[in-house]
Amino acid sequence: MNEDKVEMLADLIRDSQNIVVFTGAGVSTESGVPDFRSPGGIWDRFDPNEMTFQKFVSSRQSRRKYWELFHVCWKEFQGIEPNQAHRAIAELEKRGKLSAVITQNVEELHQKAGNSAKKVLELHGTIWQVRCLDCQAPYPWEEIFNLLEEGEEINNCSQCGGFLKPATIAFGQQLPVHTLEEAQKRSCSCDLFISIGSSLVVYPAAFLPQMAKESGASLAIVNREPTPFDAIADLVIHARAGESMKTAVELAR
Ligand code: APR
Ligand code: ZN
Repeated sequence: MNEDKVEMLADLIRDSQNIVVFTGAGVSTESGVPDFRSPGGIWDRFDPNEMTFQKFVSSRQSRRKYWELFHVCWKEFQGIEPNQAHRAIAELEKRGKLSAVITQNVEELHQKAGNSAKKVLELHGTIWQVRCLDCQAPYPWEEIFNLLEEGEEINNCSQCGGFLKPATIAFGQQLPVHTLEEAQKRSCSCDLFISIGSSLVVYPAAFLPQMAKESGASLAIVNREPTPFDAIADLVIHARAGESMKTAVELAR
């Protein structure tokens, strides 16, 4: 049953020249990275209500919890490698078919798989940078990681006293405006929008598949579980991203 659908995805890819691939944490689970909302995911281990931007700036205790989450992520994400889904998406760029990869992910596996940085729109930032919230001074994540390993508190910015924070977007924090505008522009001008490994429940990112569809693109969703946008999609594949994308891109030659 999924074989037929993967062949249909290959047909859509073959017939498209201006593809937007949209990814969520589910595209990286086969690289050993936990997603957020599956059983055992990040929000099973940390309380998302503690991880809002408002909490981060208002309470030292919440900042401690936030750094605890990043301590775990930096420890678990070191040494992760792209999987066959990331490589299939990089292949689409090699074939000149990719308009952009719009990702909610923060671990930079798309770039590691071979997508050029200019093609990757990171809506939720990156885990591999730490910056001062006030003066934007950069701090090497490795230094912060080592302090956390030694059980040290993370001090404020040595230049202006502002709070240091990983360069990811927390709930309630403004997304990078230019990146979001570019993502909306690409979504409204693509001929095929493929959402891979996202539960499509977090906005404004989850508006993008609908914007693409309303602008005339074909919408394909590859996700292990149903999403709220399955009903408007032209094609839905409830299967693992790695095998589905590898096979679809191979068949689309
Ligand atoms: N293949 C296909 N789908 C998968 C796989 C896989 N190997 N592994 C997991 N999935 C699916 C899950 O079934 C789930 O529906 O990927 C989806 C991941 O959903 P979430 O965990 O909600 O992740 P995501 O959609 O990226 O979350 C969006 O929420 O917490 C915030 O900022 C965080 O960027 C994140 C945003
Ligand atoms: Zn500063």
